[in-house]
Amino acid sequence: MKIIISKNHAASSQAACNKIVEIINEKPDAVLCFAGGETPLEIFQNLIKMKNNDDIDLSSVHFVSLDEWGGLGYDTKGSTNQTLYDALYTPLGIDLENNVHFFDGKATDLQAESQRILTIVKELGGIDISLLGIGMNGHLGFNEPGADLELEAGIIPLDPVTKEVGKKYFDTELDLKVGITLGLKTLLASKHVILIANAEKKAEIIKATVEGEVSNAVPSSLVRNHASGYLYIDKGAAKLLGGHHENN
Ligand code: PGA
Repeated sequence: MKIIISKNHAASSQAACNKIVEIINEKPDAVLCFAGGETPLEIFQNLIKMKNNDDIDLSSVHFVSLDEWGGLGYDTKGSTNQTLYDALYTPLGIDLENNVHFFDGKATDLQAESQRILTIVKELGGIDISLLGIGMNGHLGFNEPGADLELEAGIIPLDPVTKEVGKKYFDTELDLKVGITLGLKTLLASKHVILIANAEKKAEIIKATVEGEVSNAVPSSLVRNHASGYLYIDKGAAKLLGGHHENN
């Protein structure tokens, strides 16, 4: 895994965006699996600027969904669905009917819903770029600490840390119990995995990700063994790292 430390979140987001654009330019019909949450929002804004300036052609990319809170859909502000449609797919002018494949967190059979998206991922030939935020507990999507390495997609009971941290996304108190997610097996099979994190609050989990044991106890650490794994962080998130890492 290559570690790229930038002076601030804006520079880190730009650097990660440049990597994404480089990959899409090489493969215009790339399959993209982008996380919601707070961390990727500046990357999304950079991509939208590039699209509006005609600096990138996204007409052939496909977006597949990483995760969603069980029971939530577009009508809940802060759901992954609402975040990604409003902050990314719609402003990018992506063909929502044909080129976006998203979990319905309100499906009556969430397990079947997880397999529906998994099948689409497989039909598209797998994921080219997984862009993943790192949870405070190291989760990737809703692959919580101790996650099954063999899971391709499924339903996961939410870790207490995720339930607590998750409150920041919503205006009202919600009783969130499970997440629907692509599994570690599918995510780690992506051709490129780009991890992003910022601010000092993520410094401890970044240290565990980079310098701790490679183990599903900290799912983000598993990306260390990926042949095309990247970690884009700002100085705050890098604060507890020892050794030499690439700066920009
Ligand atoms: P965040 O979420 O980008 O809002 O910090 C990361 C995560 O929990 O996966």
